[in-house]
Formats: sequence, structure tokens, C-alpha cells
Amino acid sequence: MKIRPAKVGDVPTIYELIRTFADRKVMIRRSLGELYESIREFFVAVDEDGRVVGCAALHVFWEDLAELKCLAVSESMHGRGVGRKLVDACWDAARDMDLDTVFTLTYVPEFFERCGYRQIDKAELPHKIWNECVRCPLFPNCNETALIRTAEPAVEAVREAFAAAAASR
Ligand SMILES: CC(C)(COP(=O)(O)OP(=O)(O)OC[C@H]1O[C@@H](n2cnc3c(N)ncnc32)[C@H](O)[C@@H]1OP(=O)(O)O)[C@@H](O)C(=O)NCCC(=O)NCCS
Repeated sequence: MKIRPAKVGDVPTIYELIRTFADRKVMIRRSLGELYESIREFFVAVDEDGRVVGCAALHVFWEDLAELKCLAVSESMHGRGVGRKLVDACWDAARDMDLDTVFTLTYVPEFFERCGYRQIDKAELPHKIWNECVRCPLFPNCNETALIRTAEPAVEAVREAFAAAAASR
């Protein structure tokens, strides 16, 4: 299983993945058009046979803020660390762009806490992020929880040292 930036050809699979969970009302549905337009924001998880089994996107809002969104893993692959790998890939991409805060809105806060995020009050998020929510049928009464991950210098230094050591092996 590997994580790679998404390709245009992945869009139909990403669309189906998100649609499955959107039908259960745990994600917002995305149109094919939206996905093609934002495909550069996506990472996908690919299994040994080259099949896309998960996706996530990192959307930059401002000089100091990005959102992790569209996270979905095929049901048959749940519980195998795929979701965490996608979350980590988005975080690494944010850090590569010198962003040190990523937030997410989710119905699975416990999962994100396992991945280094902490819960915050939604009101702490800047107004500009609600543009997309305004289009959602559940707005403003959805029960999504807001979480953020921020770079802490000491923790980041240790993480980077481990990553460098692993890469040199
Ligand atoms: C949420 C989701 C992405 C998790 O993916 P996954 O590949 O099964 O998760 P992982 O195997 O990487 O799990 C990482 C950790 O989170 C925990 N975890 C996974 N799903 C969890 C959940 N629903 N609730 C609480 N903890 C969860 C795992 O036990 C694991 O814990 P560990 O630190 O002890 O190892 C996946 O269940 C999914 O696609 N759900 C439907 C879509 C969705 O809700 N997306 C989020 C919208 S923002």
C-alpha cells in the first residue's frame, strides 16, 4: 500500500468512494467537476494491485491555514492504517508548504485524535472556511466536530529526525 498524489484518472474512483459515505451522510458529496478542478489537492492510497483504496485532500485557505477534507477509505480496508497514512501525507504536504496549522471538520473526532489532532470550538475557525458549509443541507446544524493539528517545534524536530533516519536506511 502506498500513498501518492492523485492523477486525473483516479477521479471516478474517488467520486465513488466519497459517494458511498456521502449516501450515509458522513461526508459531503462532491461532483465530478469539483473533483477534477481540485485534483491537485488530493492524495490517494493505492494497494498492491494498483487499486485506489483511499483518498484525502488538503485545501489551503490562507497563509497559515489549510483544511484536510474528503478523507475516505474503502470499507474493506478499514482498520489497516490507511486513513492514518493519508492524514500524515496531508500533514507532510502542509509542512512542505510552510503551513503549520491544519484543521478538519468531521464525525469521527476520535480517529483524528489518534492521528495527532485536537478538538477545538468551531467558533475558533475563521469565517472564510464556512463558504463551503453554507452550501451543505445540514448547515448550520450539523454535528461535525472541529479539530486542528499544529506544528510544535520540538515534536516536529523529532519527527523529522526519525523520517530522515528511515529514509537513509
Ligand atoms: C475514518 C476512516 C478514514 C478511518 O480510516 P482507517 O484506515 O480505518 O483508519 P486507521 O486504520 O488508519 O486508524 C488509525 C487509528 O484510528 C483508530 N480509528 C479508526 N477509525 C476510527 C473511528 N471511526 N473511531 C475511532 N477511532 C478510529 C484506529 O483504531 C487506529 O487507532 P490506533 O492509533 O490505536 O492504531 C474510515 O473509517 C472511513 O473512511 N470512514 C468513512 C468516511 C469518513 O468518515 N471520513 C472522515 C470524514 S472527515
